[in-house]
Amino acid sequence: MNPQRHNNLSTKLNLCKILAATAFVIYIVIVYHNSESYVCNLPVEKTLNKVAAFISSPSLPLPPPSPPAFSPTNVSQLLFCISGSVKAWRNRRSYFREWWRPNVTRGYIFFDKEPTMDILPWPYDNLPPYRVSENTTNFEVYSYHVRPDVIRIVRAILETFREGDTDVRWYIIGDDDTIFFLDNMVELLGRYDHTKYFYIGGISEGVKSNFDFSFEMAFGGAGCAISYPLAEALVANLDQCIETYPFYFVSDQILSACIADLGVSLTYEKGFHQIDLVGDISGFLSAHPQEPLISLHHLDIVSPLFPTMDRHKSVRHLMTAAKVDQSRLLQQTVCYHKQRNWTFSIAWGYSAYIYEDLIPRSILRRPLETFTPWSLTKRPPDYIFNTRLVTNNSCETPHMFYFRSITRLISNNDSNSNSDTSTDEIKMIYVRHKPRQLPSCYPNHSADYISKIRVYAPATKLNFVEHRGECCDVINIDGKKTAEIRIRDCKKTEIVIV
Ligand SMILES: *[C@@H]1O[C@H](CO)[C@@H](O)[C@H](O)[C@H]1NC(C)=O
Ligand SMILES: *[C@@H]1O[C@H](CO)[C@@H](O)[C@H](O)[C@H]1NC(C)=O
Ligand SMILES: *[C@@H]1O[C@H](CO)[C@@H](O)[C@H](O)[C@H]1NC(C)=O
Ligand SMILES: *[C@@H]1O[C@H](CO)[C@@H](O)[C@H](O)[C@H]1NC(C)=O
Ligand SMILES: *[C@@H]1O[C@H](CO)[C@@H](O)[C@H](O)[C@H]1NC(C)=O
Ligand SMILES: *[C@@H]1O[C@H](CO)[C@@H](O)[C@H](O)[C@H]1NC(C)=O
Ligand SMILES: *[C@@H]1O[C@H](CO)[C@@H](O)[C@H](O)[C@H]1NC(C)=O
Repeated sequence: MNPQRHNNLSTKLNLCKILAATAFVIYIVIVYHNSESYVCNLPVEKTLNKVAAFISSPSLPLPPPSPPAFSPTNVSQLLFCISGSVKAWRNRRSYFREWWRPNVTRGYIFFDKEPTMDILPWPYDNLPPYRVSENTTNFEVYSYHVRPDVIRIVRAILETFREGDTDVRWYIIGDDDTIFFLDNMVELLGRYDHTKYFYIGGISEGVKSNFDFSFEMAFGGAGCAISYPLAEALVANLDQCIETYPFYFVSDQILSACIADLGVSLTYEKGFHQIDLVGDISGFLSAHPQEPLISLHHLDIVSPLFPTMDRHKSVRHLMTAAKVDQSRLLQQTVCYHKQRNWTFSIAWGYSAYIYEDLIPRSILRRPLETFTPWSLTKRPPDYIFNTRLVTNNSCETPHMFYFRSITRLISNNDSNSNSDTSTDEIKMIYVRHKPRQLPSCYPNHSADYISKIRVYAPATKLNFVEHRGECCDVINIDGKKTAEIRIRDCKKTEIVIV
């Protein structure tokens, strides 16, 4: 078709211009950096010549677009596209099973080669079908790509699209060690119009990683969501993009560059977590942004989420809270016991801290820096958020309690009761991890004796659209060793202040 041809031509011309500009910028970067820029060590001229040799990819059999729908998005309208490796799967499948919902979630796992006997027979009834990524060694680009093994990972979205599944609103890309929180994901994506072009995900926690890769790139381990029309456009051009960017080391860079070239930029959502952090991330998880938790990644690298459990048990344990209410998972609520100068900070379903001083919520929402950055050279600013340093100061160091159990309380539900006592509540127990071993902040007001915190919370979903966190009250600290807190809606003009 003529218009088609014209399009291809002008695309080529434009690409050349963009590439020339990019090459210039990269050249400057290389010169400026004098050597070390490992991302951009590209054979510029060779790349530019390649561009001139573009052949448009053969047209693909496209699955029918999802019907224009006014119905709310549900979990079966997401299609997962997971890149895995045969070698790592044995260890990772237990993480995967914690979030995958057999016969509800849809998707594919793409392996680098045929599965080995140790992971076969494939349990089709509780895992998605697997695919072996198409062999790309015969692609011309394979021979000059800086990391040819990423080509197959980039192409997972294309191979997923070609499967032709119907009624897909969002394609979700993830790694085999990404854990997704599906209810929250559905809630979040429901806020966006899946008939428009959306690329939704998270960036790295590390300033250095974003600097090295891009502040405009969804980091793939955190997962990202691509709306149907964008997936369609992406897939139509993907092989061409792979040829355009043979100097990118990771698949996320190629995808984000391709999406940018399609005129779509990243919608950054703070609930996607790449977790480019090392060590104990409890400080990070205990001060989660006020957005639904969407994903966690790198759990094989960080310390177990709960200090008394191994990594896999920790994830399962977190999921026991998630199964009752994902909307509040990790959401932070702060309240005070002013007579004793105590502050409580609860991260729903994860941790509870008692500080022996009155500390404003505005400060407590900064994570305690229990972790270290991913990049080896620690040199602030390390993180894309503010932190508080861990100290030995009695007034700044919390007593730490971790989530132990959750129960749904069904209050008076007899049939003739139409009173207001019939509200359902959730009861959670948080237990002390270890003695704090510091003197008290104010004389005679140590919280050392508290071994347990009981937290009551509403058994309704949190309404994020209201854009406001919740409030809480300290209802009892005079019990022998247990403090009691109740989480509730904030009053209309209530401020949580010392
Ligand atoms: C999701 O919505 C589609 C279309 O509205 C419907 O066919 C499907 O059964 C729904 N799935 C679930 C799990 O509710
Ligand atoms: C999923 O569906 C298949 C066929 O309908 C059934 O055999 C299998 O038991 C189901 N699996 C689960 C975990 O419900
Ligand atoms: C891909 O094909 C090449 C030759 O065509 C072969 O050497 C290689 O083993 C294949 N790779 C996989 C993973 O099958
Ligand atoms: C609470 O803190 C204030 C100073 O901020 C101090 O004067 C007061 O004595 C403390 N109260 C108790 C009960 O420790
Ligand atoms: C806190 O004190 C302990 C022992 O007294 C010491 O090992 C540790 O380095 C101190 N931590 C900080 C952050 O000062
Ligand atoms: C309250 O509801 C629960 C479960 O819905 C039921 O098992 C229980 O019998 C009910 N209690 C009364 C007093 O109706
Ligand atoms: C702390 O308690 C001890 C005995 O329990 C008492 O002798 C002392 O006066 C108290 N100190 C303050 C500052 O209240």
